[in-house]
Amino acid sequence: MRTPSHVVVLLVAMVLAVVAASWLVARPPAIVMPGIVTGIPGLSAHERSTAASDSSCIECHGDVVAKHRASPHGRTLARIDAGAATTLATARRDDDALGRFIERDSSAWFEHTQRVAPLPVQWLFGSGMQARTPVTTWLDPDGRTVMLEHALSWYPPGFLDATLGTEAMQSRGGLAACGKLLDPETTRACFGCHASLVPARDGRIDEGAVVVGVGCVRCHPGGHLHATAMTRGGTDQAAGEWKRLSPLESIRACGECHRRDDQLPPEDIRPDNTLIVRFAPVGLAQSACFTRQSDHRFDCLTCHDPHGAATRRAAATTERCVGCHGDASSSRKCSSAPLTSDCTTCHMPAVEVQPHLSFTDHWIRIRPATRSHPGE
Ligand code: HEC
Ligand code: HEC
Ligand code: HEC
Ligand code: HEC
Ligand code: HEC
Ligand code: HEC
Ligand code: HEC
Repeated sequence: MRTPSHVVVLLVAMVLAVVAASWLVARPPAIVMPGIVTGIPGLSAHERSTAASDSSCIECHGDVVAKHRASPHGRTLARIDAGAATTLATARRDDDALGRFIERDSSAWFEHTQRVAPLPVQWLFGSGMQARTPVTTWLDPDGRTVMLEHALSWYPPGFLDATLGTEAMQSRGGLAACGKLLDPETTRACFGCHASLVPARDGRIDEGAVVVGVGCVRCHPGGHLHATAMTRGGTDQAAGEWKRLSPLESIRACGECHRRDDQLPPEDIRPDNTLIVRFAPVGLAQSACFTRQSDHRFDCLTCHDPHGAATRRAAATTERCVGCHGDASSSRKCSSAPLTSDCTTCHMPAVEVQPHLSFTDHWIRIRPATRSHPGE
């Protein structure tokens, strides 16, 4: 008796499915970092905050911890203290039309002519590398944490100007004149990308228990299990998953906060859309250097130390470019500029999104404007 062909097809499909499934199971899971870390399963509140802070890593990785604490990731969020209050109160500004910050008893307050009482400021978002935005939090009628993202931000080296996206606020009255009022979900999302632990119940953030900064466990999930195992003399490898990620998985893991290419509508991903320059992984994912990589691996770590600041040395980046485009294996070399020039000025320039705020365009490409004979 002959087996009907569709049965054969079915059997083959089943065998393939089993092979595929076992391959999937054998593969380590890609690192996916949730937008908001509200807790770590199976740990008490105290254990959670220890696990989320870098103190559980310092014993064995003291050098990494020290470097990370001083880096922008270690300083993405800060509670207002005397130093921060002085920073805000003494910052230069052109006029007081948008209001001003004052320092009182080591706290910061915001004063505005259209408001009766001064507003206390509880948090500063941003490390100050680019900007720091003051934030006022309170509870809405349902007891959920909401916040005001102030319309005035601090910019280096030390002045106040409009916060990105809040320029239109000044024409309004009351609280809305002071900045953007954010709902409970948005409030939690802000903390989610700028903190390592955001304990919350029924929408109310336990602000005293927030672990500030993008800490070790944000990028090494399960790091606390590794720490415990290592302390007991084990050889747990759970903290070392980055090495096993494909380049796309790797840039998307950074993109959980820096934004992923697959989170944007495809029609928004265009070279002329300057709004996307802020989202490094989105631009990088479009670059031929990334999509056509083969022998030389290319992801964020090609140019950035995840535990440190961006180098801000054009020579360091050029070294990376030349590392791939200078050697004989590169099929393409710059026909316009010598290998000793600063590659970023033409292929990866900084783009100003508003006065005082610019981002590096990570979409590495040939820009018509940099050709000496446009239109050729
Ligand atoms: C008791 C010592 C100890 C503690 C505590 C500890 N580690 Fe480690 N860690 C090690 C040792 C030893 C290695 C290298 C051994 C290895 O690669 O297996 C390592 C390796 C690593 C690696 C690299 C793994 C790889 O495959 O390259 C990462 C990432 C890491 N640790 C993160 C952390 C984080 C995050 C914490 C804190 C939550 C932490 N460690 C706490 C001892 C420790
Ligand atoms: C949990 C969220 C989060 C994740 C995950 C994350 N980042 Fe960041 N990153 C931030 C925030 C927030 C800032 C802004 C810090 C500031 O205010 O200057 C930042 C800043 C940076 C900067 C700028 C540093 C500077 O000197 O100005 C670089 C570079 C960077 N991240 C690279 C990475 C890379 C590479 C990865 C993946 C390995 C990554 N980030 C993963 C949240 C994250
Ligand atoms: C999806 C993750 C994410 C969310 C949500 C988020 N941020 Fe950020 N934030 C980042 C990253 C990544 C950076 C660094 C790169 C950049 O500027 O986009 C950053 C940078 C900043 C900076 C430094 C200035 C700058 O633009 O580089 C400030 C201030 C800031 N965020 C405030 C906020 C506030 C306020 C909210 C809520 C309205 C918020 N962030 C929500 C990820 C996030
Ligand atoms: C922004 C994400 C990010 C944060 C935050 C972060 N790491 Fe890492 N870490 C990485 C990545 C990515 C690698 C892999 C580096 C590579 O392969 O070049 C890594 C590698 C390591 C390694 C092994 C190689 C090395 O550089 O020694 C150790 C140990 C480590 N991290 C510990 C820590 C500790 C401890 C903290 C907190 C103080 C921390 N990491 C915070 C992303 C991060
Ligand atoms: C890890 C290796 C690697 C690094 C690092 C690298 N590239 Fe590339 N780049 C490539 C590959 C691969 C291609 C595609 C080559 C091809 O099409 O044959 C490419 C293509 C290009 C192109 C052509 C783009 C297009 O759309 O046709 C330019 C321009 C370029 N790279 C510039 C740079 C610059 C500038 C840097 C440094 C900021 C850099 N690359 C870093 C590997 C790299
Ligand atoms: C080819 C090199 C290269 C790669 C790859 C790269 N960057 Fe950058 N990045 C730069 C340069 C150059 C700057 C400007 C600062 C400097 O010179 O160090 C920068 C700056 C940044 C900044 C600071 C804000 C800004 O826009 O200037 C962030 C955040 C950042 N990169 C995130 C990332 C992330 C996330 C990835 C991976 C998706 C990544 N970068 C991959 C070269 C690179
Ligand atoms: C003055 C601006 C400028 C600088 C600086 C510059 N480039 Fe270019 N690059 C161009 C232009 C314009 C083209 C397109 C040339 C053409 O189509 O003939 C190009 C093309 C390329 C290409 C693609 C070549 C091809 O076959 O299509 C690569 C790769 C490249 N550049 C890499 C680099 C690297 C690496 C550096 C730094 C060492 C660099 N460029 C510096 C303007 C520049």
